[in-house]
Amino acid sequence: MNRTEFERHIIRPIHTGKGFQSSVYLVDWNGEQVAVKDFARAPKWFRRLVAPLLVSRECRALKHLLGTPGIPRFIGKIDRVAFALQFIEGTPISTFAKGELAPETFPRIAHIVEGMHARGVAHGDLKRRSNLLLAPDGSVWIIDFAAAVIARGPLSRRLMQSVAEVDDKSLPRLKKFVAPELLTEEDQWKLENPTKLEKWAKKLLGR
Ligand SMILES: Nc1ncnc2c1ncn2[C@@H]1O[C@H](COP(=O)(O)OP(=O)(O)O)[C@@H](O)[C@H]1O
Ligand SMILES: [Mg+2]
Repeated sequence: MNRTEFERHIIRPIHTGKGFQSSVYLVDWNGEQVAVKDFARAPKWFRRLVAPLLVSRECRALKHLLGTPGIPRFIGKIDRVAFALQFIEGTPISTFAKGELAPETFPRIAHIVEGMHARGVAHGDLKRRSNLLLAPDGSVWIIDFAAAVIARGPLSRRLMQSVAEVDDKSLPRLKKFVAPELLTEEDQWKLENPTKLEKWAKKLLGR
């Protein structure tokens, strides 16, 4: 599907991006409802220089993760700044307040994150709670792989593992926010101790 066809088949916007953000649309893709993530409305320099990198990174990660539970299926690239993926009828976890998430959601998130790591992909932006979707059937989905790191060789594997450690803090962070009574001792430890990558970042940024 090219851009003209995609734009002709938009059912409705799902998320309207501001500034450098993408917009996400629900699209009729040859009879199937899919999501299209599109940077066409971003400022020109960003659209030309940065968006193609983000889109190709995200497509690469999604292709690598094809068949992994909790990861939307990659469907296809439209152009340098837009691609289609499985539409998840879900609500971003960021919209839930304290006490609103069912307790079984937390182990489900842990399971999906573990499965992704086992396939050699670290997400890199899981602390943003809008990147986890909860579907009406209670299943959990991870989206937004623009910052993902794929382990392909020894060096990228080390980076992937360091980013995976940061991913592993997202669940304790979420629990602290919506269900602090569920925090385990291990969760507390993770919250209190910076990972290797976080220590490095601190040193580099002098903060
Ligand atoms: N596959 C999808 N199915 C349903 N909604 C989606 C999908 N991908 C993204 N969205 C919606 O669009 C929002 C932004 O998508 P995301 O990939 O996180 O982009 P951004 O880089 O702007 O954060 C999400 O929080 C979610 O509400
Ligand atoms: Mg996001």
